[in-house]
Amino acid sequence: MSTLSSTFQKPIHSNKYLIDGVLKQWTGDKTEVYSNIYYENGSPTLLGSVPDMDSKAASQAINSAVAAFDRGKGVWPTMKVKDRIACMNTFVEKMKPHREEVVRLLMWEIGKTKNDAYKEFDRTIDYIIDTIEAYKKLDRKSARFDNQGGILAHIRRSPLGVVLCLGPYNYPLNETFCLLIPALIMGNTTIFKPAKLGVLLITPLLKAFQESFPPGVVNIVFGRGRKIAAPIMQTGFVDVLALIGHSSSAVALQDEHPFKNRLRLILGLEANNPAIILPDTDLDLVVRECISGTLSYNGQRCTALKVLFVHADIVDEFNKRFSEAVDALKFGLPWDDDVFLTPLPEKNKPAYIDGLIKDAVSKGASILNKRGGELSENYCYPAVLYPVSTDMKVFQEEQFGPVIPVISFTTIDEPLDAIAASQYGQQVSLFGNDTRQLGPLIDILANLVCRVNLNSACQRGPDIYPFTGRKNSAVGTLSVFDALRSFSIRSFVATKDNKNNKEILEKLLASKDSNFITTDYLL
Ligand code: G3H
Repeated sequence: MSTLSSTFQKPIHSNKYLIDGVLKQWTGDKTEVYSNIYYENGSPTLLGSVPDMDSKAASQAINSAVAAFDRGKGVWPTMKVKDRIACMNTFVEKMKPHREEVVRLLMWEIGKTKNDAYKEFDRTIDYIIDTIEAYKKLDRKSARFDNQGGILAHIRRSPLGVVLCLGPYNYPLNETFCLLIPALIMGNTTIFKPAKLGVLLITPLLKAFQESFPPGVVNIVFGRGRKIAAPIMQTGFVDVLALIGHSSSAVALQDEHPFKNRLRLILGLEANNPAIILPDTDLDLVVRECISGTLSYNGQRCTALKVLFVHADIVDEFNKRFSEAVDALKFGLPWDDDVFLTPLPEKNKPAYIDGLIKDAVSKGASILNKRGGELSENYCYPAVLYPVSTDMKVFQEEQFGPVIPVISFTTIDEPLDAIAASQYGQQVSLFGNDTRQLGPLIDILANLVCRVNLNSACQRGPDIYPFTGRKNSAVGTLSVFDALRSFSIRSFVATKDNKNNKEILEKLLASKDSNFITTDYLL
């Protein structure tokens, strides 16, 4: 095991924030950032500090974004697509050298394993590059005229205006950038506030943002949601709220906006994804997929499997093998080799998970695995709970952490009824081999959730596929391609098909007086 001091050098005290294209110095209150990974003396490790900004700074940020959009006249929303792409290429090149620093902070701030931290950084770079390519393809399709019913039309996708981007702590880089990057490339101007945890890792990228985009296009502020995001929403100038996190935050922020009818939403919220395990399945595969589905990053993923419905014929054998597999997982520090379970970044989380376990046990569940529920200051070892019933908190609440409820069923209507009654509808994992049983089940599940994972754990990626949900799980669809559509609207130039209008269009195309009317093919 490497020592703590060998991976963490010295605290980062950042005073900087980005507004109007200027990296300004914050002289007001600061928030100290601690890691929940404990140092030798037993206290949380101080990682650094960031500005704790206020409503005055919030108002500067929204003014900056509004001025950069400039009621559609701004440099950025009217810029040629190829020039916006050039800015994005500059940004991605300036981001790449910060890989090691961001990865180190991902480990220290949110306890992500070294492998997963590298994956998060690399996946984000790929996402940006793929977004650029997808935008080129989209633009090529628009490089033409339609002629229907005597009307010539040139149809493109245009920006929506000012976007407020808020991401979650579990993917503080990737999920946030999956909102920010498509919003930017489509010509919107943005305000971005990093999550409460996973905030320092944004600081090395401030300069890259400043140097890559015109002033006011990206504004980055630090602080608490209610002190900054709420006043920004109250101005009524936010056109799109893009948030991945909890529905309580999304609802509270919508409530602050004075003109709800014009506020667009792009939301990724709770999911509580279930697995249905049929009797004719390969149990070794099921155990493998359920370990990764329930406990990758300690279950702190919106796509994690949060409840396992196992057929009564195989539940005992499944419980035995699954519990052994859970107890064999290595707990350690994020940079240790082969580590799978790591400290939880939220201070109160171990006690919360312990509370869920105690509640379930008091209502009749047992902890099946030997190490289940072992509690320390920054961790609660995953507990496999069985039999779980609907009156238990672990069934009712999305645990977002290391505890796995198992429910047995005899008729397929039991899990189907539970999924239909759930407030959520993101994904499901379905394990089995009998196509006569799987076929009709897939037909139903596809109407209850948005991704049916056959003999596989739930997951977001590859990012090219649609990521969305029904009911309370999401608003809008994200994928490399869908996100470009979500952050834009179709607008077009139309004209009656006659000689004079044709001549004007031809002149516009030749003179390049318009950045909107163009049939240039982007290479
Ligand atoms: O927290 C939700 C993430 O989108 C999950 O992504 O399935 O790739 O881990 P992932």
